[in-house]
Amino acid sequence: MTSRHAMRLLTAVATGAFALVALLGATTVQQAGAPPVKTGTYQPLVSAEGKDNFLAYCAVCHGVDARGGGPAVPALKVPVPDLTTIAKRNGKFDGGAIMQKILGPERLPAAHGSIEMPMWGPLFRRAEGDAVAQLRVTNLTTYLQSLQAR
Ligand code: HEC
Repeated sequence: MTSRHAMRLLTAVATGAFALVALLGATTVQQAGAPPVKTGTYQPLVSAEGKDNFLAYCAVCHGVDARGGGPAVPALKVPVPDLTTIAKRNGKFDGGAIMQKILGPERLPAAHGSIEMPMWGPLFRRAEGDAVAQLRVTNLTTYLQSLQAR
């Protein structure tokens, strides 16, 4: 992660409301026929609650119910997973792995391709430091765990 890979934030306009999406600056977000997605500035939420953070930062792609039907989905090249079936699909809910997934990979994959799931670790850390970033991601993970289908 170099500073040249500056994080940019995108606002997706859907059903008359603005929603925030964080993406790598290099990521192409507009595809033919997709809804308009424009850049904006990261606004740290005062709340650290998992649900509040999920609705602010994740629902635009994952959907307010976390089932993968967010308004930005048509702009993405990769299907957005249903986050309520993580435990079912994997046989268990591995909190550490999910936190790592939210934080983002330690190293960027090879230059080709793009990362469709934003890396929240660098974004949260740069804006608010390690402790707040950790708190947000921990609470998001606990929230996702609470949504798991039995
Ligand atoms: C720009 C759209 C977008 C946003 C915003 C987004 N995600 Fe994702 N997410 C994806 C996509 C696409 C995938 C599947 C590809 C992948 O796993 O890299 C994914 C995968 C995941 C996974 C792995 C799910 C699994 O079944 O393994 C988790 C967990 C997750 N996202 C959590 C979050 C959380 C928490 C937030 C908000 C802080 C968030 N996502 C915001 C698009 C997004």
